[in-house]
Amino acid sequence: MAMSLRLSLLPFQSPTDASMLRLQQPPPSIIAFSSIVAVASSLPPSQTAMPPNPPSHIKSGASFLRPHLLQLAPYTPIEPFEILSARLGRSVKDIVKLDANENLYGPPPEVLKALGCMDFPNIYPDPESRRLRAALEVDAGVEAEHILVGCGADELIDLIMRCTLDPGDKIIDCPPTFTMYAFDAAVNAASVVKVPRLHDFRVDVEALARAVKEHSPKIVFLTSPNNPDGRLHYCVSCILLKGILVAV
Ligand SMILES: Cc1ncc(COP(=O)(O)O)c(C=O)c1O
Repeated sequence: MAMSLRLSLLPFQSPTDASMLRLQQPPPSIIAFSSIVAVASSLPPSQTAMPPNPPSHIKSGASFLRPHLLQLAPYTPIEPFEILSARLGRSVKDIVKLDANENLYGPPPEVLKALGCMDFPNIYPDPESRRLRAALEVDAGVEAEHILVGCGADELIDLIMRCTLDPGDKIIDCPPTFTMYAFDAAVNAASVVKVPRLHDFRVDVEALARAVKEHSPKIVFLTSPNNPDGRLHYCVSCILLKGILVAV
């Protein structure tokens, strides 16, 4: 059964209350409304929902959000195959999807086979990804202790920003490029200095060097291969020398 995560304003007065909230049953009553409590429940949302007409002193969930997040422009996600297929009235195999930098050829058969016969699919895998990092060490020639494995590049981009950015810091990216850099920067209350690419999608290295000097960014994102054009190489040595974190 699907789990639902519900954010509610619930009494939170003692550890006993906290334990009660971990149970699958909704708490019997709502008494005070000063904290935000996340309830993970396997009950259908209809059985754990807030009353339809809550008392007027219940605060809205939005009032608990960090103020800068209320200003955040929503990220426009891609549409998956099944939605596109229904909308276009075409079978999935007749659609060529080029909007999300995806591998059109799919995983190699060996990968599909390995995924289908995992020994313990119900058990969390090694959180330190030791075997994978050891293999990457050999492949990339970088010591495993310097390799971090993430759930996709998006997680790594998110982690880099969370670990380095303070509110008010700046990052640089070079549009057109992957839009998550600007989104994650906004989540961390950082701002983005944009150094547009040249007409053939090359990075404008001189403009980049000027922007680095003027804005002292915490991070410069140089995407390789870039989304959307696929261009690979950059001259980054001039920036690396200045002691700035360059994420490629
Ligand atoms: C340049 C770039 N970086 C990262 C990502 C996200 O990759 P992942 O699916 O590994 O999280 C994308 C996805 O389109 C991308 O285009």
